[in-house]
Amino acid sequence: MILTHATLATMDGPGYGLIPDGGVVIEGGRIVWAGAMRDLSARTGEVRNLDGRLVTPGLIDCHTHVVHAGNRAGEFAQRLNGESYADIARAGGGIMSTVAATRAASATELLAETLARVDAMLAQGVTAIEVKSGYGLDSETELAMLRCARTIAEERQVRVRTSFLGAHAVPPGMTADAYLDAICLPGLRAAHAEGLVDAVDGFCEGIAFNISQIERVFDVARTLGLPVKLHAEQLSARGGATLAARHGALSADHLEYATEADARAMASAGTVAVILPGAFYTLRETQMPPIAAFRAAGVAMAVATDCNPGSSPMTSLPLAMNMACTLFRMTPEEALAGVTRHAARALGLADCGVIRAGMRADLAIWDASHPAELSYRIGATPLFARIFGGHA
Ligand code: NIG
Ligand code: FE
Repeated sequence: MILTHATLATMDGPGYGLIPDGGVVIEGGRIVWAGAMRDLSARTGEVRNLDGRLVTPGLIDCHTHVVHAGNRAGEFAQRLNGESYADIARAGGGIMSTVAATRAASATELLAETLARVDAMLAQGVTAIEVKSGYGLDSETELAMLRCARTIAEERQVRVRTSFLGAHAVPPGMTADAYLDAICLPGLRAAHAEGLVDAVDGFCEGIAFNISQIERVFDVARTLGLPVKLHAEQLSARGGATLAARHGALSADHLEYATEADARAMASAGTVAVILPGAFYTLRETQMPPIAAFRAAGVAMAVATDCNPGSSPMTSLPLAMNMACTLFRMTPEEALAGVTRHAARALGLADCGVIRAGMRADLAIWDASHPAELSYRIGATPLFARIFGGHA
């Protein structure tokens, strides 16, 4: 396939990598050439003239809890009446209420509910998603969630990377350490043995796991040869971001309460900051992630939906880009890098996220003439077409 007369935002390099009248040659699912039309040599293949439409790398949603059952619209109303996310969690709602719904769902029900959300994501230009477990909190359901995540990639044209998030909440009636010993860590080993785990995640927070408990999870991840990432500094400063950096984490995520010292630690470890404005917005958080400090330290910033039934019931990655700009003053260029090049890094993927020869041909074609339009519109879906592995 040969895409001609496109406005290319290759994202290859520090900025957009804009090529105003560009072309892309795709063979065997890979990009074999990308550049200016005037440099395109004669080729044979199916030509698609894009009439100036914008082409970007396929979007990558690098932080989702898209596999889950049920919803928490009732808690949404409770929070609007003044109850806090943490209060609801301590009273047995929050994550535990989705745990109950997910445990009760059959594999077929879980997949059907999940695919409806995945379809909404793909309709907005997404070609790769990360999917976390964490609503099982028993081995059986954690593994069921990860099997469901793997099935997504068989049912739909999308790449899936899984993260084991057994350390998401402590089941009532147990201590955190007892839960790690009896359920979470054996569950991680079992899920890994079944080939279900691409990375290991945790929730480092007052209502979840402390630094030393997260470190126990990371130590097991290391023995299994798995990369780590962490929900860190979302509701309070706990030192999770620096801990993640110390363990060479792919990413630390949320980060509203992160400090300049965290930013420096993350920069030297190459840990990506995953910015999740949907959760900030939904929880009516007022503490902003230290974007300027990340920028100054040279931390790569990704942007994701955090699609989950509690703190971010959102499936639109372009809306997350808009929020990252309007709420956090990220630039449209940073937002697009955040859902392409930097999102790939947050998942440890080296073959996508930029338009360059040798990369997978995962692309999004937009009814737009400049990449800033993707962040600028609110809730719009200017997607014209998606190309996944070279197939339209
Ligand atoms: O990323 N922070 C913890 N986990 C999710 C929320 C999960 C939930 O509320 O169901 C998050 O915001
Ligand atoms: Fe999350």
